Amino acid sequence: MCGIVGYIGDEEATPVLINALKKLEYRGYDSAGIAVFNGESLTVRKAKGALKFLEQKIATEIIKGSMGIGHTRWATHGEPSDINSHPHTDVSGSIAVVHNGIIENHAKLKTWLENHGVVFKSQTDTEVIAHLIDFHYNGDLLKAVQETLQRLEGSYALGVICQSDPERIIAVRKDSPLVVGAGKGEHLIASDVPALLEYTRDVYYLQDKEIACLYRDRVEFFDEEGQAIQKELTHVDWDVTAAEKGGYEHFMLKEIHEQPKALTDTLRARIKTYASKSINLEEIGFDASWAKAHRVVICACGTAWHAGVVGKYAFEHYARIPVDVDMASEYRYRDPIFDPADIFIIISQSGETADTLAAMRMAKKGGARIIAITNVVGSTLAREADLVMYTWAGPEIAVASTKAFTTQLMCIYLIALQFGSLRGVLSEKDLEEHIGALEKIADQAEKLLSNKEEIQRFASRNFNKTKAFFMGRLFDYAISLESALKLKEISYTHSEAFAAGELKHGPIALVDEATLVVAICTQTALFDKMDSNIKEVKARGATALVITYDDETYFDKTADEVFRIPRTLDPLTPILSVIPCQLFAYYCSVQRGLDPDKPRNLAKSVTVE
Ligand code: G6P
Repeated sequence: MCGIVGYIGDEEATPVLINALKKLEYRGYDSAGIAVFNGESLTVRKAKGALKFLEQKIATEIIKGSMGIGHTRWATHGEPSDINSHPHTDVSGSIAVVHNGIIENHAKLKTWLENHGVVFKSQTDTEVIAHLIDFHYNGDLLKAVQETLQRLEGSYALGVICQSDPERIIAVRKDSPLVVGAGKGEHLIASDVPALLEYTRDVYYLQDKEIACLYRDRVEFFDEEGQAIQKELTHVDWDVTAAEKGGYEHFMLKEIHEQPKALTDTLRARIKTYASKSINLEEIGFDASWAKAHRVVICACGTAWHAGVVGKYAFEHYARIPVDVDMASEYRYRDPIFDPADIFIIISQSGETADTLAAMRMAKKGGARIIAITNVVGSTLAREADLVMYTWAGPEIAVASTKAFTTQLMCIYLIALQFGSLRGVLSEKDLEEHIGALEKIADQAEKLLSNKEEIQRFASRNFNKTKAFFMGRLFDYAISLESALKLKEISYTHSEAFAAGELKHGPIALVDEATLVVAICTQTALFDKMDSNIKEVKARGATALVITYDDETYFDKTADEVFRIPRTLDPLTPILSVIPCQLFAYYCSVQRGLDPDKPRNLAKSVTVE
């Protein structure tokens, strides 16, 4: 949901801002803009559409200056247009603001400002901030920002520059991410670390309502009360290429291919191999007390919620513990029942999803203990949870989540197995067998990816189907949900997921010759049930693709085509069975001439409701 950047240093700011914005386009890409200070005045340039349109606009003119801010937008208030793009300025054009988030009381503030003679240019909620800062400005930009913040309700990450206060950028965050980068003779801000990596790997993570004043040679921090504070510098060890396409046509394809490595990285540190194999979650502070929980509640959104659905099946199966899995957006407005003996597992790639954070805070208030599974070190979720288990997937840039999902599954399995072992449900032998299977899974994923052309060919024959239904049972149902989401997100095909047993309770009425049915069949005890379901859809004219084990012939006669995944233990198949579905969605999107990395209307990090 929007990306913001800022630069102050000895270099020209414009190329740095554009370059950094390119790394944030996944957060929004319906318009972009920059404001640069040249020592005398601010120049603001904005353009509707992807960042390249802004680049084209400024290609013919040199915007000089070594301090500036930039923005790439995902519209919430006001349509995508040049005018509604950020930065927004006060009436005189001497204060410029970029904003990620939503100002909930903007209508009230707008009326108040209009009553004081302000004429608004845009339909955005953000513009009130620029005018309020101007209203409070009395020669001290920091004070004006502090006073403005007291009047804002909602979420924000802000970058502010002012031509009468030309030596600094002021940045602040509340419920929207913001990182400060510290380079040599230069300082930067960005909504996410990849935007900074080319310039520095030394970063400060801001806490809610902390303010940073960035100068060329130093950065000062203040708490909510305006008291100066010291902050710890964090060194990020991602390498720069992790946020580049590295020869792949799209980030999504690159990230699909990175899954074997990401799975290995996520697993390796958590396995103890001396004497017998066991799971080591001590590094995250997990001890036997956690496994005494009465119930596990898993909360997340989107793809991360699908990881939670797998989690429900895994925890119930391995640890015999009741599990509720909830969409965070529902949970936060329900009237849920808390028990301090509950354990909450909150899953979020970004660690910044607004609904997910709200659900976590509710659970915390209710007395539950929180385990976070996230990919972003220092994210709000990571900071506020009791325990954090990182998915070592590296930066995920494509909007459609792939490697973050499979590594979330890896974390979920490790916790579920550890629960099972500590609760005495899983024997040492069972545990070892599962660890062995998880250790093999990265190589199996690699093997599966080496057959990707099969899926590519299948996609080229079926990408123009108007309907795609994914069905499965148990763990395969969870992956059906994720696969249908992936396909609709990036190819805009109408796709749905069904628990195969539910087919005859309604969905089968939709099946006809134009329907593609992908049947995920890895739960051996239910093969006969799945076989009947496939026959039922085929009898109504559907084309059926079956995803099953490479040594399995059960569906050869029923299916139109079979895609084979390496054999593993039935409950662990989600990590593998989702990969052909990710590839299928990717190739359908490419066949349709779309950009799979930047699907319409979506953004990677949903930091607003
Ligand atoms: C958006 C993204 C999805 C993601 C979901 C939750 O909808 O497009 O890919 O699964 O947010 O994001 P999170 O960062 O909390 O995992």
